[in-house]
Amino acid sequence: MIVLVTGVSSSPGYKIAVKLLGRYQVVGTYNEHRVEIPSAELVRVDLTKNPAELIRNYKPDVLVHVAAIGNVDQCEEQPDLCYRVNVVASRELIANAYRVGATIYYLSTDYVFDGERGLYTEDDVPRPVNYYGLTKLLAEEIARAFGGAIIRVAWIYGAGPGRANFGKTVVDKLRRGEEVRAITDQWSAPTLNTIIGEAFAKLIDSKFTGTLHVVGPRMSRYEFAKAIARYFGYNEDLVKPIRLADVNYRARRPRDSSLSNRRAIELLGIPLNDINYALSIFKKELEETT
Ligand SMILES: NC(=O)c1ccc[n+]([C@@H]2O[C@H](COP(=O)([O-])OP(=O)(O)OC[C@H]3O[C@@H](n4cnc5c(N)ncnc54)[C@H](OP(=O)(O)O)[C@@H]3O)[C@@H](O)[C@H]2O)c1
Repeated sequence: MIVLVTGVSSSPGYKIAVKLLGRYQVVGTYNEHRVEIPSAELVRVDLTKNPAELIRNYKPDVLVHVAAIGNVDQCEEQPDLCYRVNVVASRELIANAYRVGATIYYLSTDYVFDGERGLYTEDDVPRPVNYYGLTKLLAEEIARAFGGAIIRVAWIYGAGPGRANFGKTVVDKLRRGEEVRAITDQWSAPTLNTIIGEAFAKLIDSKFTGTLHVVGPRMSRYEFAKAIARYFGYNEDLVKPIRLADVNYRARRPRDSSLSNRRAIELLGIPLNDINYALSIFKKELEETT
């Protein structure tokens, strides 16, 4: 069975591909950042060019669509590019995957919600407050229209390839004895990339359909940085509180976009609310890569 994973050069895409190896034949795409995944077939593709050709060439049984412009501020600054990648390319890819009979899994985000309430369930109605969130919501609807599953994750952190992530930055700074400024009044649910990979493997094995929130426990970035300091044995006092208003973000952030992970815990049997479980994997993986 061929699983095509787009965006294996991103933090979640890489871990998803790695977790699927040995169970499935994995084809992974990257664009600007080449990665190595032994025994996966890797292909360089700019998804704004010809996503249909990719599907024609590989005829996947499963499409896991991860690639997107994931930088929230970049989407606000370059809305045309963001729309072309996150919506138009997703539509081409998903529609063509459906035509060859592929099962579709779309990786989405807590930023489809406005953050006025928090702990959103899979049945709550999205209302994005920034352009990134809007494009992810549009792609969700496309995936849904083609019978695809929607897996929402949030605040991804972990070791491995991909853009800098908050969890790794915190560890690097604390290890060097540097201060970490962390926001106290924005909440979501930090989620380890490896756990996302494990969840996808289980969901694909079980042929999951529907929408699912695969996230860690609700916390602010400040609480998350403190938890990291405690678990790794660094000086907690180096974590300094700041307010969301102190940060000059280009795009508006939802105040509390935390997601309820109750359904995912029941379904997957992964202790998603246990931050120390996730941090133990994170720590081990950092040790293995340094
Ligand atoms: N970061 C988070 O906390 C978070 C939270 C919720 C959901 N997500 C979702 O996770 C996924 C990865 O996001 P990320 O934040 O990890 O961002 P990222 O590091 O910027 O990764 C984006 C991925 O998309 C690929 N990509 C971008 N433009 C492309 C194009 N034109 N053609 C082909 N591939 C292209 C990139 O490939 P190259 O790097 O090789 O160019 C990379 O693999 C996205 O679907 C995002 O919405 C992220």
